[in-house]
Amino acid sequence: MAERFGGKVALITGAGSGIGRACAERFYAEGAKVILVDINAQGLDDTVVQMPDSARVHSMVADISSPEVCHVAVATTVEVFGQLDVLCNIAGIFLSGRIEDITPEAWQRILQVNLTSVFFLCQAAVPELTKTRGNIINMASTAALTGQAYSSPYGVTKAGVAMLTKSLSMELAERSIRVNAVCPGAVNTPLAATASFPQDATPRLIDKLMSFYGFAEPSEVAALVAFIASEEARYMSGSVVPIDGAQTAG
Ligand SMILES: NC(=O)c1ccc[n+]([C@@H]2O[C@H](COP(=O)([O-])OP(=O)(O)OC[C@H]3O[C@@H](n4cnc5c(N)ncnc54)[C@H](O)[C@@H]3O)[C@@H](O)[C@H]2O)c1
Repeated sequence: MAERFGGKVALITGAGSGIGRACAERFYAEGAKVILVDINAQGLDDTVVQMPDSARVHSMVADISSPEVCHVAVATTVEVFGQLDVLCNIAGIFLSGRIEDITPEAWQRILQVNLTSVFFLCQAAVPELTKTRGNIINMASTAALTGQAYSSPYGVTKAGVAMLTKSLSMELAERSIRVNAVCPGAVNTPLAATASFPQDATPRLIDKLMSFYGFAEPSEVAALVAFIASEEARYMSGSVVPIDGAQTAG
């Protein structure tokens, strides 16, 4: 495997499962030092155990829904590895239900975890990324690109992530900080496996969420993330890139 990230430091949220874990594995395999953040301590341990060079790995159990914690995550990165080159905002939660079933608490929580955290991690990271001319990759979703039934709060957070990506790519261009987002369709992770919809959901609306290609593997999304983070993608910024087996093409 190519070693595009030797000497680079990547901070990855959601590294205890699914796409975040696959990104952690990919950056590590390509030579990066990785800071792995997740609310799930066991998940983080299961990721770290696959990484024998412990000098290149630091894990941090944290709930990134708090802006203060976001700043601590970046400060810890610099304390431990001296710099930050790539910020991968991958952690996220899903929420489904008809509009009548969404409580104020659930609405607030999904905004905090999926959107507020991304904003404040970017805010905390910008001074460090300015020094390294680093870049940011945010995990959005096809739900940022097309309306999807029974999950409007989730779609709102992902559309917010997409617009935050575009806005920051403009604002940060003068500092050569690239900012991009990735929009997966259905990916084979615990989040997708446990997603459920109302029992009387209209099947035609659920079918729209699936691709003819079935599910993507987390490693396939991680490969795209690693490409975007690498120098090979020097000209990419402000891009919101679907990886969805044509789900949103029609
Ligand atoms: N799986 C899919 O089909 C799919 C599709 C499109 C987008 N996504 C997005 O990809 C990202 C990763 O999802 P996944 O499918 O790998 O899910 P996952 O549930 O396997 O992993 C998400 C990780 O985020 C962590 N996390 C959740 N809340 C957190 C918090 N407050 N603080 C720190 N960590 C927290 C979880 O503990 C978990 O380890 C999410 O942003 C999700 O919205 C997933």
